[in-house]
Amino acid sequence: MNKIFVLFSLLLSFNLSAQEGPRLKTLMATMGGHAQGMLYGILYENYEMIDNAVAWVNNHEQPTADMAKIKEELGIEAVRFKYYDTLTHNAANAMGKAAKKKDLREVSKQYATMVQSCTKCHDTFRERLRVVLHRDDNL
Ligand code: HEC
Repeated sequence: MNKIFVLFSLLLSFNLSAQEGPRLKTLMATMGGHAQGMLYGILYENYEMIDNAVAWVNNHEQPTADMAKIKEELGIEAVRFKYYDTLTHNAANAMGKAAKKKDLREVSKQYATMVQSCTKCHDTFRERLRVVLHRDDNL
């Protein structure tokens, strides 16, 4: 009986964490690693590395719980937050396409556009959201 209860609680906690998704900060830290991977891919002309990093950026999990807080804080401005996210994905996609053609110049151009999009969002929202997202933790 006890074992079943433990199993049930485990399943439930997995389920809850699946709904909440990762924390935005954790997701972003991993994203930073992949942005570095892209840069190394460019510098070493390793197109597979670029492809892998682009695929990760495009398929990342949603930080669902943090997104709810972000939407609440930003209200209508959440549209702008989403817009910067779209700009980032568009540039990552364009980079992926250029990598398939082994077009190094276009890859690095799109990389620059992508990093500018990351930075636009950070510049506009990071400080403001930090307060909201980390009220209850020390992250
Ligand atoms: C739509 C907005 C948005 C976009 C686009 C965005 N970020 Fe972020 N990023 C944030 C916010 C908000 C934080 C602060 C999160 C926090 O402190 O909880 C952050 C934090 C970070 C951090 C610091 C993580 C830490 O541990 O403090 C890194 C690294 C990062 N982002 C990388 C990237 C990279 C690389 C891209 C582009 C490929 C990107 N971000 C695009 C919103 C964005």
